Amino acid sequence: MSFEKIQLLRKALHDHNYRYYSKDQPIISDMEFDGLLDQLIALEKKFPEFYDPNSPSQRVGGALIKSFETHTHKRPMLSLSNSYDQKDLLAFMNRCKDSLKNDLEWSVELKYDGVAISLCYENRELKHALTRGDGIRGDDVSMNIRTINTIPLKLPTEAPEELEVRGEVYFSFSSFERLNKKRFTDQGVRFANPRNAASGTLKMQDSSEVSRRGLSAFMYSVHSDELEVSSHIESLKLLREWGFPVPSEEGKSLKKCQSLDEILDYVNYWDDARHNLPFAIDGIVIKLDEIASQNKLGYTAKTPRWAIAYKFNSEKVLTRLKDVRYQVGRTGAITPVAILNPVQISGTIVQRASIHNADQISKLDLHENDTVWVEKGGEIIPKITGVDLSKRLKGSISVDFILNCPDCGSILSRKEGDSQHYCTNSSQCKTQIKGRLNHFIQRNAMDIDGIGAETIDQLVELGLAKVPSDLYQLKPYDWLKLEKFKDKSVRNALSGLKQSKNVPFERVLFALGIRHVGSTVAKKLVRHFKNIDNLMKTSEDELLNLDDVGPMIVTSLSTYFLSKQSIYEIEKLIEIGLCFTSSDEFSGGLLEGKTFVISGVFDSFTRAEIKSSIEKNGGHLSTSISSKTDYLLKGSGVGPMKLKKAESLNVAQITEIEYKTWIGSVN
Ligand code: IVH
Repeated sequence: MSFEKIQLLRKALHDHNYRYYSKDQPIISDMEFDGLLDQLIALEKKFPEFYDPNSPSQRVGGALIKSFETHTHKRPMLSLSNSYDQKDLLAFMNRCKDSLKNDLEWSVELKYDGVAISLCYENRELKHALTRGDGIRGDDVSMNIRTINTIPLKLPTEAPEELEVRGEVYFSFSSFERLNKKRFTDQGVRFANPRNAASGTLKMQDSSEVSRRGLSAFMYSVHSDELEVSSHIESLKLLREWGFPVPSEEGKSLKKCQSLDEILDYVNYWDDARHNLPFAIDGIVIKLDEIASQNKLGYTAKTPRWAIAYKFNSEKVLTRLKDVRYQVGRTGAITPVAILNPVQISGTIVQRASIHNADQISKLDLHENDTVWVEKGGEIIPKITGVDLSKRLKGSISVDFILNCPDCGSILSRKEGDSQHYCTNSSQCKTQIKGRLNHFIQRNAMDIDGIGAETIDQLVELGLAKVPSDLYQLKPYDWLKLEKFKDKSVRNALSGLKQSKNVPFERVLFALGIRHVGSTVAKKLVRHFKNIDNLMKTSEDELLNLDDVGPMIVTSLSTYFLSKQSIYEIEKLIEIGLCFTSSDEFSGGLLEGKTFVISGVFDSFTRAEIKSSIEKNGGHLSTSISSKTDYLLKGSGVGPMKLKKAESLNVAQITEIEYKTWIGSVN
C-alpha cells in the first residue's frame, strides 16, 4: 500500500515537473507541488527499502558522494574543430561539399560555454551521467545531475529504451553571481567564471549544496541504436518532446541554414545579441543537418568532420612579460612559457602563457620586460599574440632560446623541419624520466592506484625507478624508503601494480609513451595488429595504410622499435605479466555467429558492459528482434513488446544467469 502511494506520488511529481519545466504549462501551484514533494520525502524516509535514485525527491540532493566512479563512454566524447573567420568557415563548408557532392543544409546553434555531460538512459531511466573526463572515460556525477530540474529522470514510453543524450551544464549569470557572493562572504574566495564554477560544482560531494546552487543544462545531441531520424534538427525536436532542455528555432538558438551568407548573418546576430543572453556562449556551432551525410563524413581521431565551431573574438589584454621559463616534456620536447604580471581575461586571472617554440619567440621578436598582448582563445592556456613596441624599454635585450636542457644541462637539438627543440639525454634527464613514469601510471594509461606524481618524484630522486618495469620490481623495503610510506601505502602501491596487469593491450601500448601514439592511435594499432609481435614486425607501408596513421607516427614507431632499450623494456614488461595481446585474440568466439537482442536491466552488468561482453565473445548485437535473432537476453523489466515478438518468432530467451554460465563468468 505504502509502495503504491510512493509510486503514485513519484509519477505525479514527474508529470508536474515535465509540465512546469518542459511545457511551461503548470497545472498546480508551487505550494501544492512542494506539499506533494514533502509527502513523498516523508514516506521515502519511513520506507527506505523503496529507494529509487530517480525519484523526484532526488532533485533536492541529500546524497553524499564518497568518490566518483569512472565509466567508459559508449562512444568517445570528442571536441569540435574551430573556425575564427569567414575564410575558415567557407573552407569547412567546401570540404563537406566536395565529399558529398549535393546541396547541403546546416543546423546552426549556440555554443554554450559550460561543461560537457553525457546522460545515459536505460529502460528509459537515467542510469548515469558522466563528465567528459579524458574523452574515453568520465566521472559518474549522476547524483549532482539529478538536481537539475530540467533534466528528465524518467522518459516517456515513446523514447527508445536505451539512449545517450549529450549537452552542456552551465550556470546562468544570475545563479553564478548569487553563488559567488555567498562564496566570498563564507570563504573569502570567488570562482573566476561560470564555467569553472559549473565544473567545480559538478564534482562536489554534497548533492544538496549542488541543488542549492542551481545548475542549468542544454542538450545538443542524441545517440541511440533504436532511433530513426534523418536530421539533427529533427532529433532535437524529439528530445524536446521527451522533456529535455534543447535549443529552439523560435528562440533563435537554433536555425536551419542553406548558405554561407545565412550562417554569417546568424553568427553576426549572436556576436552582438550574446551580450543580452542570461548565460555565456563562446561561439556558434555549425553542423551538417542530414544524419546520413554526417555518417558519410565520419570523424577524425579528435573531431567530427561534419561540424565546426565558429569562435567569437576573444578578449585581448596588455601585460608585462616578467620572465620566460622552459619546461621539459616526457619526450624531451622543450616548451617556453611566459611568466606574466597577473592580469584578468574573460573573468580569469592569467599569469602564464604559452609561446610554443623558438620560432614563435623570433616571430614576436620578444624582448625582456616587453609589454605583450595576451589572448585567451578556446584553449585553456592563454597565448601571447603580439608585442606593444611603443612600450618597449630602452636597452632591453631580446629573449634568446636556451641552448642547454634546464634540467640535465645537456645540449639541446633541433631537427631540420621540426619547430621543437629537444633534450636528447632521455635516459638520464630526470624530468623526462619522471614525465614518462607519470604518463605510464596515469588514469587512461595503466591507471595505477596507490602511486601518484609525488611517489614518482621520490622514486626517481632516490634512483629506485627509471623505467616502468622498475616499478614492478621494487620490494616492500624499497617502498618503505619513501617519505610518508607505511605498510598500508606499500600494500596499496603493490596491489595497484598487480591490478594493472589486467589493463588491456591498447592502454599498455599508450602507456609506453611512444611519441605521437595517443590513446586513439594505440587503439587502432591494437585492433589491427592484435599483438606486439605483429606490430613490431610490420612494414611502414602497412602502417601508413591505416586510417589516422600518418608519416610522423610511422617514423616514431620505427624509431621506438629500433631502440634496443625499448625492446629490452618491452621484454621485461611481458615477463612481468603485462598484457601485450588484444583480448579479441584470446576469445574463443564462444558466441560466434550468434545474434543477440538485449532488453531490461542486469544485475552484474551495465548495458554497455553486457554488450561489450557479447561482442568480446564473438556474438553480434541487434536492436530489434527478427527471424535472424538467436537469443533474447532478458534483464529485469524486459520490454513486453520484445517478449511478445520473441515468442511469436520462436526466438530463444535466456536470463542473465544463463548467459553468465554460458560464457563461464559465474563464480
Ligand atoms: S556538438 C563532437 N553542440 O563544445 C562534439 N557542442 O569542443 C560535438 N558545446 O565540450 C559537440 N555547445 O560540450 C556541440 N551546441 C553545441 C555545443 C557544444 C557547447 C561544447 C561541447 C564540447 C565543446 C566542443
